[in-house]
Amino acid sequence: MCGIVGFTSDEPAAPVLLRGLKCLEYRGYDSAGIATICNGQLNCGKDVGKLDEVCTNHNLIGLVGNTGIGHVRWATHGGVTMENAHPHCDCKQEIAVVHNGIIDNYEELRAELRSEHCFKSQTDTEIVAHLLEEYVEEGLSLEAAMRKVVRRIRGTYSIAAISVREPGRLVATRKDGPLVVGRDGNRKFIASDALAFMEHTHDVAYVEDGDIVVLDEDIVFTNEDGAAVDRAFKTIDWRWDEPTKQGYDYYMMKEITETPDAIRCALEQDKDLILDMAMNILRAKQVVFTACGTSRYAALVGRYLFSRLAGKFCDVIMGSEFHYFSDSVDKNTLVIAISQSGETADVIQGVKKARENGATIFSMINMIGSSIARMSDRSIYLNCGPEIGVAATKSFMSQLAILYLLAFTMANRMDEGIQKVRDVCDTIEGVIETNGLRVERIAGLTKHNNSCYYIARGINFAIAAEGALKLKEISYIHAEGMPAGELKHGTLALIEKGTPVVVICPKDYTFEETLANAAETKARGAFVIGVSEENHAMFDEWIEIHATEEIFYPLVTVVPLQLLAYYSAVARGNDPDRPRNLAKSVTVK
Ligand code: F6R
Repeated sequence: MCGIVGFTSDEPAAPVLLRGLKCLEYRGYDSAGIATICNGQLNCGKDVGKLDEVCTNHNLIGLVGNTGIGHVRWATHGGVTMENAHPHCDCKQEIAVVHNGIIDNYEELRAELRSEHCFKSQTDTEIVAHLLEEYVEEGLSLEAAMRKVVRRIRGTYSIAAISVREPGRLVATRKDGPLVVGRDGNRKFIASDALAFMEHTHDVAYVEDGDIVVLDEDIVFTNEDGAAVDRAFKTIDWRWDEPTKQGYDYYMMKEITETPDAIRCALEQDKDLILDMAMNILRAKQVVFTACGTSRYAALVGRYLFSRLAGKFCDVIMGSEFHYFSDSVDKNTLVIAISQSGETADVIQGVKKARENGATIFSMINMIGSSIARMSDRSIYLNCGPEIGVAATKSFMSQLAILYLLAFTMANRMDEGIQKVRDVCDTIEGVIETNGLRVERIAGLTKHNNSCYYIARGINFAIAAEGALKLKEISYIHAEGMPAGELKHGTLALIEKGTPVVVICPKDYTFEETLANAAETKARGAFVIGVSEENHAMFDEWIEIHATEEIFYPLVTVVPLQLLAYYSAVARGNDPDRPRNLAKSVTVK
């Protein structure tokens, strides 16, 4: 989703801003731009399209000045147009603003400002530039003006601004949006994601809700009332690797092949922390997982594991719905938030509400220092490194690995669990190798179908749902995943001659019943793709998996489904790394 960068020092800002935006590209965007200040003048270039195109077409690298801000936009308010791209400026072209999030009361503020100000875009963001202009005209500094703006706007936001009247200075604030500051001598950075400046410095401080931070020769944090607040700098221990495809056509394929390593790294946890979390989960009166998309499917696997291995029942509520259940959340509730980015606005909203009600928050996060990690009483990091493909693949596997670790620990079998997951992990490389060509051929057969269904039972139901999500998000084929037994309660009406039905039926205790459901689709002409360790007459196509213990099947069944989605996307001419309309980090509700 939108990404912000800001930089001030005594060297040209544009190259640093553009490098920063490049690092945020993976989050998904539709337009890009930067603004710099030089000799009392604001230089701004922005447009719709990929960063490289915008950079070339508007000579962004040539924008002079040592202080600047940059942005990649994922449209929310207003279409994908040059006017709506950020930065946004005031009427006099003296102030430039970039913003992530949504300003809820922008229409009302726009109506108020319209008679005196000239609006050039349809965005909610532009009102911030004009409000700052109003207050600066009253004689306030940019910092004081920002403090006054914060009192006027409602919503979720991370905002950074510069003004020609205060060259060499950046002012920023946030509410429920990510914002982090970095320093390296006299070079000061701000960004919505530390990855944007990780190649320059690991010395960071997190901006908290309501803070106004000023970056010039110093970095000073103040609160809504202007009182200084202390935000400690710390070194984040994240190795910066230039994202490269390392010979793969797409990041997604590279990341699928990184799965075995991702699982091994996820198992490297502080054993005391895992033990403590496991004990707390067992003791809690009520345990609720909350997450969105793929992370929610990991939670569904977790729910099954906790029940099957430790006899602990938990609920799973999707992030965007969780706060509606806050009447039942109190100090006896333990919430487990799962999120790769740690910045998903829907999850943050539910977690905030749960915290207010006294719940304990545990989380499983990939991005170090992200908002959800910082809101948690305890947090486990996935340790799978940055995931660049928009579709979650290796991070899902890391989430599963940690859920196995917790579940086995809850059953007082931690070491056994670690060993078993490691053993299964070794077979995953084989799954990728054995199935690559076969799955690519199957994708070629089904690429023209409009719909595809995925069915499974027990622990693999979540994998059916995840397989369907993967297919629809990158191939744009309609797909649904459901418990096999649920099919006949409605969806069977949609099965016709040639409809692909992916049947996940490992040879465990669900095998016969799942196969019976597959037969119901076959009888109506379905093209059955079986995912199992053995071929069967029912299957029109067979994707082979390794035999394992029932609870470990998700680890081996999901990989071929990720491959099926990948090859379907490629066969249809799509870029699997950057699916249309989607963003990697969903920072708006
Ligand atoms: C699907 C996908 C999304 C995310 C969802 C939650 O491939 O990537 O469904 O899983 O947006 O994101 P996180 O895990 O960052 O909270």
